[in-house]
Amino acid sequence: MSETTLYIQHFNEESRPLDYYLSKMNGYVAAKKALSMQQDDIINEVKKSNLRGRGGAGFPTGMKWGFIPKQSTKPKYLVCNADESEPGTFKDRDIMRYTPHLLIEGMVIGGYAIGSSIGYIYIRGEYTREAKLLQAAIDEAYAKGYLGKNILGSGFNFDLTVHRGAGAYICGEETALLNSLEGKRGEPRVKPPFPAQSGAFAGPTIVNNVETLADVPFIINQGGEWFAKLGKLEKSGGTRLISISGHVKKPGVYELPAGGATIRQLIYDYCGGILNDRKLKAVIPGGSSAPVLTADEIDVIYDIEPLMKIGTMMGSAAIMVVSEDYCVVKLIKRITKFYAHESCGQCTPCREGCKWMEDILHRIEDGHGRDQDLTMLLDIADNINGKTLCALGDAAAGPVTSFVKKFRADFEAHIRGGKCPSA
Ligand SMILES: Cc1cc2nc3c(=O)[nH]c(=O)nc-3n(C[C@H](O)[C@H](O)[C@H](O)COP(=O)(O)O)c2cc1C
Repeated sequence: MSETTLYIQHFNEESRPLDYYLSKMNGYVAAKKALSMQQDDIINEVKKSNLRGRGGAGFPTGMKWGFIPKQSTKPKYLVCNADESEPGTFKDRDIMRYTPHLLIEGMVIGGYAIGSSIGYIYIRGEYTREAKLLQAAIDEAYAKGYLGKNILGSGFNFDLTVHRGAGAYICGEETALLNSLEGKRGEPRVKPPFPAQSGAFAGPTIVNNVETLADVPFIINQGGEWFAKLGKLEKSGGTRLISISGHVKKPGVYELPAGGATIRQLIYDYCGGILNDRKLKAVIPGGSSAPVLTADEIDVIYDIEPLMKIGTMMGSAAIMVVSEDYCVVKLIKRITKFYAHESCGQCTPCREGCKWMEDILHRIEDGHGRDQDLTMLLDIADNINGKTLCALGDAAAGPVTSFVKKFRADFEAHIRGGKCPSA
């Protein structure tokens, strides 16, 4: 627990003012340095850092920035995805709440590196307080010359606007987000073209998560290699902010070196174990889209590849812990209700299938399940998975399949007994 942490020591009320950022966090030193570097050198430094997107897919950030076509004469855009709607995820909120200037500085550097003078922060509608705090920090940054024209005398201009969402999960998907930003309906776009070719207002665009961009000043200050070495496994650099919720004694945001602990260590050593010292039933390891794990599967290193190897994912680094006395059928029904509600309706398998899965799960939980329901659930999930424009379909189908496969006995007990056995 004595490992290097970048954020967590600053997540307190005291850290909000710009003075704190300047004096305690090397504020805007990285921006000054970056604005005197070649753009390609910044991108190479980010490549060296092994920074992988913190929004869910874990795509290498330096490589993504390198996709921006330099020759394009269209305006380029840097968009921060602050939608943070994946159930169980609340780490970006802390970055925006306590260290908003870190995000602003990361965006100035990112904007310069990709040749963009226009940035947007698309923030989740429910984050009213964070939107206000961000705006106040942006106003401060403009007043001090960290945003706007000729930043720190470098000749580089960068304007940053906060755009508030209206509470739709789908607007976290990057192309739905861009449609929403443009004032259109928040529906995912057909890809290709990817945003780096044609994104916001048809200009080359990079969309990055809040934590991804907030990591950038650390990389520029201390170097890509230093950042890469913070990670414990070969491919993942830096630290990870992990949101842990559910039936643990100490839920909250934790920071660890990437790959620095197993799920068991996170639950028992960091979070103090299961509430009321009950037994563990299940763990959802990467936000509600991630296939569930049983209590026997938690000795896995908490990082992208180890989790993929056992058939699940790290996603937005949000762990939800479920104790033995909670009904897993009720849980997956609630999760599926969320996806059915949030499906944008463009793709038939997702629009229809999510609702069908919700109805069947409701029936089972309600004590009216039929023998053929589990086969039907798996079949519907299979007809959604990989058959939609965006990953919301997979996000809804994967959990259902995994819950039915791993906790089949619980579903069967509901169907046989005509009610929840623990009710
Ligand atoms: C349905 C859906 C919801 C998503 N929600 C978010 C979100 O709330 N925040 C986020 O950063 N990425 C979210 N993503 C991932 C984004 O599409 C995109 O991959 C990410 O913002 C890229 O940033 P990164 O490379 O820094 O991770 C979502 C993806 C899908 C399919």
